[in-house]
Amino acid sequence: MKRFRPLRISQIVRDQYADVPSITPDTFIYPYFVMDGTGKKEPIATMEGVYRFSIDELLVDIEELLALGINKVLLFGVVPKEEKDERGTAAYRPDNIISKAVRSIKERFPQVVVFTDICLCEYTSHGHCGLLCNCDVDNDSTLPLLAEMAYQHALAGADFVAPSAMMDGQIEALRKKLDQEGLQGTKILAYSAKYASAYYGPFRDAADSAPSFGDRKTYQMDFRTMDQGIEEIEADIEEGADWIMVKPALAYLDIVCRAHQKFPNYPMVTYQVSGEYSMLKNGAKQGFFDEKRIFFESLVAMRRAGADYIISYYAKDFFR
Ligand code: PBG
Ligand code: ZN
Repeated sequence: MKRFRPLRISQIVRDQYADVPSITPDTFIYPYFVMDGTGKKEPIATMEGVYRFSIDELLVDIEELLALGINKVLLFGVVPKEEKDERGTAAYRPDNIISKAVRSIKERFPQVVVFTDICLCEYTSHGHCGLLCNCDVDNDSTLPLLAEMAYQHALAGADFVAPSAMMDGQIEALRKKLDQEGLQGTKILAYSAKYASAYYGPFRDAADSAPSFGDRKTYQMDFRTMDQGIEEIEADIEEGADWIMVKPALAYLDIVCRAHQKFPNYPMVTYQVSGEYSMLKNGAKQGFFDEKRIFFESLVAMRRAGADYIISYYAKDFFR
């Protein structure tokens, strides 16, 4: 008989044997939805405890975030319907909402590491992630628009641009544009293995970015594939990605684990997406399980699988 129970006799002993003893604030990247205006902090119906902020209110919230020890943020833009068009112009015009937010954050809190989401779906009238052609998203004509968006954010001072559109060649297009413009210091966090997932449901309400027809299955990955996820990551690294990502998190930890083993030198990020967050938050609210414990267990599982960083709407609550 091999005895394992001695390894579990007390909290102190269990702490000694834990492979992931705890999670620290520097693990987290906190997502924010930003919109125009002043004094706005709108609750999001599908995501308890998550808000859309105007820039002034965003700064107030970031102050709280820093007090909790978290110094990394990921920004998403929310624009009114009237500003959306077929080409997603509001995403990359020089006075776009995200560039304004980045400038304000960097001016007030230079120590905050700013990531910006690079995708057109929050800005297009049709809600797809790129330019339409024959009712599908056209890959190559979308690339320069994503590159322009990344350039605008980088110019404003973003530390990382994070392309999430799942267009082929998007990392190369961004890297080339940034380098040409003398922005070699801006890094790229690649949403490399991003699966077409039902777990994004609540986000599309938060960012008003649901496609008006069809789905994203011609560009986001089919969740029945495995090796393809590794190939997507490999291609992004070859194109110039600095950090890599697997998304969503909990249902895709096999991919996180394989990617971490195959690319140990690249910081690995996983995204606990809106549906994962709302599922746990609501389940706890209804009394099915304990909120703190269910989130701690899920987040530790992500670290155990090999994620270095986690994007999570729960980060603030966790350290509170
Ligand atoms: C935009 C984008 C999405 C998410 C991050 N960037 C939505 C989508 O692809 O439909 C999802 C994030 C979440 O669900 O929390 N392309
Ligand atoms: Zn998109």
